Amino acid sequence: MLKITNLTKRFGEATAVDGANITVDRAMMIGIIGASGAGKSTLLRMLNRLGDATEGGQISFEGGREITALKGGGAKRAWQRDCAMIFQQFNLVPRMDVVSNVLHGTLNQRSTLATMFNLYPTEDVHRAIDILERLGLAAHASKRAEALSGGQQQRVAIARALMQDPKMILADEPIASLDPMNAQVVMDALRRIHEEDGRMVIANLHTLDTARKYCDRVIGMRAGRIVFDGTPAQLTTGVARDIYGAGGDSFSEAATSTAIETIAETEIHAAKAWSDFHPLARPLGGAGDLTGD
Ligand SMILES: Nc1ncnc2c1ncn2[C@@H]1O[C@H](COP(=O)(O)OP(=O)(O)OP(=O)(O)O)[C@@H](O)[C@H]1O
Ligand SMILES: [Mg+2]
Repeated sequence: MLKITNLTKRFGEATAVDGANITVDRAMMIGIIGASGAGKSTLLRMLNRLGDATEGGQISFEGGREITALKGGGAKRAWQRDCAMIFQQFNLVPRMDVVSNVLHGTLNQRSTLATMFNLYPTEDVHRAIDILERLGLAAHASKRAEALSGGQQQRVAIARALMQDPKMILADEPIASLDPMNAQVVMDALRRIHEEDGRMVIANLHTLDTARKYCDRVIGMRAGRIVFDGTPAQLTTGVARDIYGAGGDSFSEAATSTAIETIAETEIHAAKAWSDFHPLARPLGGAGDLTGD
């Protein structure tokens, strides 16, 4: 349903994304990992058409819709409705109430005049409340966005994205500013939306453990190139070392910043990889028999 062919982005001399090829044949939850500067954000921005490819490459969606070829604001906005983007910093309007922030998700579809006067059709307001309810935020609907915790604000951002009824949700480091508890709540929400609605989710993630726990497929980038594309089970410690650059600081930093506390069975493999790399890692689960891979 999504095919990225030979996608490249240069900034002057530097190549941020270097000939990326990705084929996705069903709506999956995909995690993109890699050290800082690997090209993860640049790739997502090209997918969303916030940034243009430098040369030749192609993005096609659902058999034939050529995303790279879209010209003009209207065509791009129509695509951006189908692939909603959420960001590390939530990008809410802090002083505006939660429900209005969510209603902003319909902005693309409304006239300037209606927007200026904050006029929303009743059915949109009901839908916004339903979505907030689904994300466990209905009780906060009338509060200002700035009064909510980071995890709640990110869920408001997800609610705003859902207002667009997107086919795909692109998330650029959605949990990088959150503590482990909130990070888990936000990732759970994204996973649920993927499973219940069948929407594709592509998330740039800072941490290996999160990618392994939540994603069906993981793509590893290094210096603009895709160096891994496989299942969490295939993402062994050796592969991770290769993605992050052998033994480099970037790896231990990336792999340790969001260790989610509740250790389920499925996480033990990831935990092992994590502790392999970090000298201060606590033995997780106590026992010394975290037999992995
Ligand atoms: N607007 C820009 N102008 C010049 N160079 C840029 C620009 N945006 C990104 N780059 C460069 O492109 C490369 C990839 O950047 P990108 O932001 O995509 O990396 P990233 O994997 O998202 O990193 P991080 O994990 O730090 O968010 C980096 O070398 C970066 O400096
Ligand atoms: Mg980035």
